[in-house]
Amino acid sequence: MAVLMLSSFLICLLAATLSAAQSQVVQVDDRVSGFVGTEVVLSCTFSNTNPTVKITQVTWQKLLNGTKQNVAIANPTMGVSVLPPYKDRVTFRNPAVGYSTPSLEDATIRLSGLRLSDEAAYICEYATFPAGNRENQLNLTVLAKPITRMTLTSPTITAQAGETSKKVVATCVSSNGKPPSVITWETKLKGEPTFQETRNPNGTVTVHSNYLVVPSREIHRQQLTCIVNYQSERITNSLTLNVLYEPEVTIEGFDGNWYLNRQDVKLTCKSDANPPVTVYQWKLLNGTMPVNVEVLNSTLFFKGPVTRDLAGTYVCEAANVIGTRSGLVEVNVTEFPNIPGGPRIPPDEHSSGSMAAVIGGAVGGVILLVLAAVLLFVFLRRRQRTFKGDYNTKKHVFGNGYSKAAGLPPHPPMPQSLHYPDDSDDEKKPAGISGLGGEQDFDPDSEDLKRPYFTVDEGESHEDFDGRTLSFQYDPEPEIADDMVSQNDGSVISKKEWYV
Ligand SMILES: *[C@@H]1O[C@H](CO)[C@@H](O)[C@H](O)[C@H]1NC(C)=O
Ligand SMILES: *[C@@H]1O[C@H](CO)[C@@H](O)[C@H](O)[C@H]1NC(C)=O
Ligand SMILES: *[C@@H]1O[C@H](CO)[C@@H](O)[C@H](O)[C@H]1NC(C)=O
Ligand SMILES: *[C@@H]1O[C@H](CO)[C@@H](O)[C@H](O)[C@H]1NC(C)=O
Ligand SMILES: *[C@@H]1O[C@H](CO)[C@@H](O)[C@H](O)[C@H]1NC(C)=O
Ligand SMILES: *[C@@H]1O[C@H](CO)[C@@H](O)[C@H](O)[C@H]1NC(C)=O
Repeated sequence: MAVLMLSSFLICLLAATLSAAQSQVVQVDDRVSGFVGTEVVLSCTFSNTNPTVKITQVTWQKLLNGTKQNVAIANPTMGVSVLPPYKDRVTFRNPAVGYSTPSLEDATIRLSGLRLSDEAAYICEYATFPAGNRENQLNLTVLAKPITRMTLTSPTITAQAGETSKKVVATCVSSNGKPPSVITWETKLKGEPTFQETRNPNGTVTVHSNYLVVPSREIHRQQLTCIVNYQSERITNSLTLNVLYEPEVTIEGFDGNWYLNRQDVKLTCKSDANPPVTVYQWKLLNGTMPVNVEVLNSTLFFKGPVTRDLAGTYVCEAANVIGTRSGLVEVNVTEFPNIPGGPRIPPDEHSSGSMAAVIGGAVGGVILLVLAAVLLFVFLRRRQRTFKGDYNTKKHVFGNGYSKAAGLPPHPPMPQSLHYPDDSDDEKKPAGISGLGGEQDFDPDSEDLKRPYFTVDEGESHEDFDGRTLSFQYDPEPEIADDMVSQNDGSVISKKEWYV
């Protein structure tokens, strides 16, 4: 019985204690933050369910490093007191706090002109009678917006030839931020950034980032963007690199087809340089410039017809402040035009999908061949009537008459034409194709220009002409005095000199 009474007494006591403890509560915001120089509101309210409990004083204290410092005090009879260094910066939000019959339930303060040193925990303490002291605390965080600056190391970067080491080309600095900002870079350059953080005594952090890249002509005009992420903000800064580099020189104009008497050929010196090249100098290696040459800026004009004197190695020298570089071209002068219409396709173009060029070349070749054959046929027919000499029963085929015929060993009699599969290599392509192409220049009247012999099997040429016909050359056969041979089967064999 006594045990029961004791336990019920204890329960009552506990309940009373609890209700007493819960009847007065100080409420604050957990955390408050503000930027340097701005104003923050530190709210604090007192809720009381027991009307007999009276507020005797409210005190705001700053808690830093375990030491408390009074900030502001409100007393129902004495009024409000704000202590230095808060004197001009702290006010109670509720004007009734300072009245003679105050209401201190809302002791919220405003703190203006926020300083980094204001960052601390703040205690809002209510002194009551008869319940005693009640308090709560909040954390004030002071933020500092960084100042971001991006700079190029210098207005221009000089790219030295052969340089391989990376150099700092740009710097991005985000100064005195709190919390620290995060820097990233955005660029197509293949460089690398470095990062360095410096903590200032006042708690702010300066983030310093360099961007390193190998100076080269490739990075000229490339954009470099520094992105500073601070809180939810994203500050971007872009700059364009300006790289100075020495000239890269190429010479245009020599097409490998400078034949005698060709008119108005020229060589042009092209350069890629920053700053641009202003002066070009032309030289002829191991020789003096031909007399009919005229230099105009970067172009070398050859006046009049091409002569053998033009052959040689031409050098163009281009200079800017960074350096001097030269390009050269070896000029060949040929006796006769080299007809580019023949289906000479470099092997690598087979795979590069330039089908149009391949087809175009093949079609052009076929047309040329057919045209040549028709001309020949007509020509031979005309000459046939005057034939009086020996019959030559040897098979003859088209061939490149002029450049190599004399040097080649005689071929044994072979099939007149041989077809390669369409994918045959260029190397197998007949020299005769370009020779045949050359027959478009065929002019029976200009008999002074002598060309070596070559022979033609006209009958075969009609049937087998296509772009891939292989023709063999035969040695000149001086014993055949006459030009034409008419065969029993109706075909015509020609053995004659060709002129251009
Ligand atoms: C206030 O900050 C202190 C450390 O600075 C931390 O221990 C405490 O939990 C914080 N209080 C709140 C309410 O965030
Ligand atoms: C806080 O205490 C630390 C050492 O515990 C000291 O280095 C620092 O200066 C103190 N800060 C202030 C504001 O007193
Ligand atoms: C913090 O310190 C740095 C240098 O120590 C100074 O430049 C900066 O202005 C300071 N920031 C504030 C908000 O006082
Ligand atoms: C050009 O001349 C130089 C000397 O003047 C000589 O060393 C060089 O071999 C010559 N080159 C040619 C292609 O003749
Ligand atoms: C050559 O250069 C001058 C200035 O340097 C320019 O006025 C002129 O038009 C140029 N001539 C040609 C043909 O490019
Ligand atoms: C010049 O012609 C020769 C003989 O025809 C040839 O071997 C050489 O490759 C040609 N050089 C150039 C640069 O075309």
